[in-house]
Amino acid sequence: MSRLLVLGAGGHGKVLAEAAEASGRWDAIAMLDDRHSLLNGSLRWPVIGSIDDCSVFSSEWSDAIVAVGHSVTRLRWLEMVESLGFAIPVVVHPSAWVSPSAKIAGGTVIMANATVQADARLGRGCIVNTGASVDHDCRLGAGVHICPGVHLGGEVVIGDGSWLGIGCSVIHCRTIGCEVMVAAGATVIDDIEDGMTVAGVPAREIISRRNKS
Ligand SMILES: CC(C)(COP(=O)(O)OP(=O)(O)OC[C@H]1O[C@@H](n2cnc3c(N)ncnc32)[C@H](O)[C@@H]1OP(=O)(O)O)[C@@H](O)C(=O)NCCC(=O)NCCS
Repeated sequence: MSRLLVLGAGGHGKVLAEAAEASGRWDAIAMLDDRHSLLNGSLRWPVIGSIDDCSVFSSEWSDAIVAVGHSVTRLRWLEMVESLGFAIPVVVHPSAWVSPSAKIAGGTVIMANATVQADARLGRGCIVNTGASVDHDCRLGAGVHICPGVHLGGEVVIGDGSWLGIGCSVIHCRTIGCEVMVAAGATVIDDIEDGMTVAGVPAREIISRRNKS
């Protein structure tokens, strides 16, 4: 029997669990969250323990996936569950289109109405969120989050841990570095260096509140 544990029962966890359920691939789905005593019974799936309890469930639950937005945590937890013997699936909502020639690493989720086109390569623990599109030959590193409604042209390269805010676009053949943040609604027309936060049309570097002293 194929049984999926979802680590994280927040908003993203709910969307991921519904995508997994709609795919019909698992016989059972449950969640782990450190707020399990508060959350259990309030969601459509049982919240059966905290994240640290993971090892207890490895004999009964075949697969695990991580549903937290913070990419470093997402990748760390994926490593942890893999070392405990869980299989790390790719979750694809049945309304998404994923090209048969695309290659997607474990722990990545493709949400409702998203599109991943021919020969795209997606690393581990990525999120291609609701209605986003990743066009042909794109290369996404590990832990990249493509927020709802984002569009990537063909052959776009994105480094590990980068986060593309809701509704932004990247024209074809551009390279976005690692740990980049692209603001909601931005249009990226140039390459972006590691660690930058960019916003606007066309996208330019901004000094975010996080970096203002
Ligand atoms: C990019 C972002 C993370 C920056 O947030 P922040 O670090 O709090 O930045 P600040 O609010 O301090 O804004 C810094 C400057 O950038 C501007 N700015 C911020 N977001 C912008 C945007 N989306 N478009 C244009 N300008 C923007 C601000 O107006 C501000 O300009 P100022 O210095 O002239 O006043 C945030 O604005 C954003 O776009 N988040 C996207 C959220 C999202 O997509 N959520 C979906 C989750 S699934």
